[in-house]
Amino acid sequence: MEDALQYEGKRVLVTGCASGMGAAAAQILVDLGAEVIGLDVKPTEVPVKVFHAVDLRDKASIDAVAGAIDGPVHAVFSVAGLPGPPFPDIDTVLVNFVGARHLIETLVPKMAPGGAVVCVASNAGLGWQQDLESLMPLVTTDGFDTAKAWCEANPAAIDQGYAPSKKLVNAWVAWRGTSLMKQGIRLNTINPGPTETAMMPAFENQHGKDLIDAFIGPSGRRSTADEQAWPMVFLNSPRSSYIAAEALHVDGGFLGAMVTGQLEVNLPE
Ligand SMILES: NC(=O)c1ccc[n+]([C@@H]2O[C@H](COP(=O)([O-])OP(=O)(O)OC[C@H]3O[C@@H](n4cnc5c(N)ncnc54)[C@H](O)[C@@H]3O)[C@@H](O)[C@H]2O)c1
Repeated sequence: MEDALQYEGKRVLVTGCASGMGAAAAQILVDLGAEVIGLDVKPTEVPVKVFHAVDLRDKASIDAVAGAIDGPVHAVFSVAGLPGPPFPDIDTVLVNFVGARHLIETLVPKMAPGGAVVCVASNAGLGWQQDLESLMPLVTTDGFDTAKAWCEANPAAIDQGYAPSKKLVNAWVAWRGTSLMKQGIRLNTINPGPTETAMMPAFENQHGKDLIDAFIGPSGRRSTADEQAWPMVFLNSPRSSYIAAEALHVDGGFLGAMVTGQLEVNLPE
């Protein structure tokens, strides 16, 4: 079957296309014949059709880039991210949630029914369902500036940046994915386990290698960027037309093992 995932000629946008999972997704989409618009704060080596420099911490930068993108946009891959410390908490939450959400919301009017968006959260955001009460005030803020002001007024709610940002992505996808599906636009997220990318040294410096590896499940290894990119490509394909407001755990079986008590967690001494 040719063009099995139906990306040929489709206009797709990938943030974080300079590195890691975003670069892997952008390359796969180029190979599948899509018209790839790449966004990142750094230049990319992936042969995308158009590249736009964007800083997801900055509303004006996002608005300028989004305004330069013609519709129809068929799919958005929201992959760019920061790992938390040493980056300030506010920067991590702006890039991983507030700016990503603003870009997606600005593009939604350029998407037709059948369009799809995939985000990248993390296993670091596990447990978000238990935190909904504290997450929803920020999840439901209207727009970039209001969300940024909320973060600045509530620094304890975004302490350390990374885990809160990934819980926010999961909660927003479940919440906003509902209203978008009523418009025929699907919004989903993946929750990757530890993945060998340029971000990994920052995680190891923050938490230590042993703690990162405690999140390795029955696969016994970290994933590659491609192993995260393909599930994103699958989720945004029209072939996944009944998957919406969903969080797909791409973690080599970690969550299943954890919830059934089969995980041997080797936490550092
Ligand atoms: N690597 C892991 O173990 C892991 C695990 C779970 C989730 N994630 C998430 O996966 C996503 C991709 O990360 P990765 O592992 O490929 O890391 P990476 O560092 O290789 O890629 C992240 C990309 O985001 C871009 N970026 C950073 N700040 C930006 C900004 N202000 N504006 C625009 N772009 C910006 C970077 O330039 C980079 O190209 C991130 O959202 C990350 O949080 C990573």
